[in-house]
Amino acid sequence: MSAPRKIAAGNWKMNGTADALAEVEALLKEHAKPGCDMVLCPPATLLHRMAGIADKGALAVGGQDCHARSSGAHTGDISAAMLQDAGATHVITGHSERRTDHGETDEDVRAKTEAAHAAGLIAIVCIGETLEQRDAGTTLDIVAAQLGGSVPDGATAENTVIAYEPVWAIGTGRVPEIDQIAEVHDFLRARLESRFGEKGALMSLLYGGSVKPANAAEIFAVTNVNGALVGGASLKAADFGGIVAALGKS
Ligand code: 13P
Repeated sequence: MSAPRKIAAGNWKMNGTADALAEVEALLKEHAKPGCDMVLCPPATLLHRMAGIADKGALAVGGQDCHARSSGAHTGDISAAMLQDAGATHVITGHSERRTDHGETDEDVRAKTEAAHAAGLIAIVCIGETLEQRDAGTTLDIVAAQLGGSVPDGATAENTVIAYEPVWAIGTGRVPEIDQIAEVHDFLRARLESRFGEKGALMSLLYGGSVKPANAAEIFAVTNVNGALVGGASLKAADFGGIVAALGKS
């Protein structure tokens, strides 16, 4: 590996029942050779079925969260090994919605990421500031603390992807200025390199928050943006496909 992998990842969040799998079939038909890695993270209920479809094409599937422990009395939770067993190769850890809805701390996210690695999964570790933090001028401090606290020492370019998702850009249609994205991604790259050396230089850094086909090419032209973590626009093959095509050409 001589450069970070280009990755278009979709997070379906709490959306999708069996009929939505038709979108995955359509995506694979249109993008048999995408020119980047494609990952979709459906709700756990669809994981196994989506993995069956993904097997036939250039798509990897992932979970949206995992428990830090491998098994036990944790009603409603899913372990990393269970995701792997269902056909996942990836898992999102530390998404801001989990940090907010479930009170997950950096320490929790680090433990989950370690569990993902132990199960052989690639962790997509999410970080990002709130609007209040951005307005207070503390964005870089916040993402530095999240990166330091959420990413375990055993992270490598093969087992870890970092997603920068400003909370205020998620699901709002509001995208940061290109310079703001560049500033944070350059900063994160420098932090990863100083902590992990060559491994940090090669870790993929994704941007997330209101990415759509219309703004994807501009975002992917930013140095140190190696792809996207996409929410709403990953639900439809045409939209996600447009983002995939833009990344493939970048
Ligand atoms: P949207 O693309 O819907 O803004 O969501 C981004 C996100 O949270 C992906 O994890």
